This record gives sequence, structure tokens and C-alpha cells, in this order.
Amino acid sequence: MNFLIIGDIYSKSGRDVIEKNLDKVVKENNIDFIIANGENISHGKGINKNHYDFLKNKGVNVITSGNHIFKVKETFEFIEQVDDLLRPANMNSYNIGLGTNVYNFKDKKIRVTNLMGKSFMEHVNNPYEVMDKIMENDNSDIHIVDFHAEASAEKLAFAWNYDGKITALVGTHTHVQTADERILPKGTAFITDLGMTGPINSIIGANPDEVIFKEKTGLPTKFKPSENPGILCAVVVCLDNENNCKKIKRIQVI
Ligand code: FE2
Repeated sequence: MNFLIIGDIYSKSGRDVIEKNLDKVVKENNIDFIIANGENISHGKGINKNHYDFLKNKGVNVITSGNHIFKVKETFEFIEQVDDLLRPANMNSYNIGLGTNVYNFKDKKIRVTNLMGKSFMEHVNNPYEVMDKIMENDNSDIHIVDFHAEASAEKLAFAWNYDGKITALVGTHTHVQTADERILPKGTAFITDLGMTGPINSIIGANPDEVIFKEKTGLPTKFKPSENPGILCAVVVCLDNENNCKKIKRIQVI
């Protein structure tokens, strides 16, 4: 079984590059199941119903997110009605929405879990504690984790702790694709960050002018999403019939 796991889709450039290339990538890599991080898909922050529908119509099976999941008010109105838009499981436990779920696909039970890191992020519950609880009652065949975090060491330590116990852990949030994709010693596929599916010529998605103004002056600044052409950043994870990872391949498509 082959998985396509797509990095943070950012604004219109991200949607356009998905529209242009996703079908081709799926075909070329014989993809069965698609997971995409959609927390930046609506104007760079959050996900509205329209853009949730856009990803579902493009064949995305599960949408993960991160710190921006509730930035669009509309998300509160539909997140509880769907089972395939995840918010980080270790967010404030009073928040609505699912942080992990199992999907029956062909003859497999595929669990997808979304977590957020602690370093340089808004306060979240201990991801290890939450993950251990999830794993206690887990009877899935395949378990894929989107760990939405800033610090590379935090992502690797987390993946290392669950090496051999989960199928794959992919990092998201930094919007910069790392070149360290590999299968860890006990079999878990890993990459520190998938990178951004969004405008190439931008500051992690935003228009450079406003970002530079803020860096120079320290004044409050509203960032505008860059409208420059996008790049699709993802990995393909290939499993054998026993659900063991055989390959993790990093891709960038313009
Ligand atoms: Fe994020």
C-alpha cells in the first residue's frame, strides 16, 4: 500500500498546485491513501468548509492540522460533523474535533494521529502522555502520525520513542522540507518536515514585504499570503503486505 502525505497546503498557491499536480502524482506513484495537512489552506490560516470540500473532492482521505486549526470561525461549525479533519490530539481537551481516528480502508484499519510539539509553540498537553493513551487501545494495522512542531530534535526524539510501534511519523509546521527522510532502525518511516505546498517565492507562504517590515521594525503587521506559483511538497511511504515500511521518498512538484 502506498501513502502520499502532503505538507502544509498554504492559501491559493497551494490549492492551485494541488489542482494542477495531485492527480498526476497519485497516478505516477500508485497512491492508495492520501493524508494532507490543511491548516493553512484558507488564506494562510485555518480551513473553511469550501476548502475542506476541495481537498475531499481531490481524493484526500484525511486532513490533519496544527496550531491554526481554529483560526477560521466556520471550522467550529463543521469539524464535529466530519471524521476526517483532525486537530492536534494534545490540544486543550475541551476543544471539539478528533485528534486521532481509525479509517477502514480496503481490508486495513488505518489510524491517523495529529499531535503538536511543545517547543516554541502555544501551550499543549504532553504529546507523549496523549500518544501513550492513544496507543493503549489501538488495534489498527497502520498508524501514521503528523507531528506539527517547530523543533527538529523534538520531532526526531518523538519518532525515535515510537520507532517500531507506529508506521510513519512526518513532521509539519516549519514549511521547509528537510532532506532527512529515512526508515528508523525498528522500521518507522520518518521525515523531520514535509515542507510547504504553497508559494515558492515567499517567506514560508507570506509576502516578503510585510515579513521584512515586521522583522525590521517589530511593529504589528498583517501578513498577506504570497500569490507566487506554488510547489507541492510531500512524501510517498510504501508498505509491503505485512504493513512494513519499504521506502520513504521525498517529492517536490512544480
Ligand atoms: Fe502550523
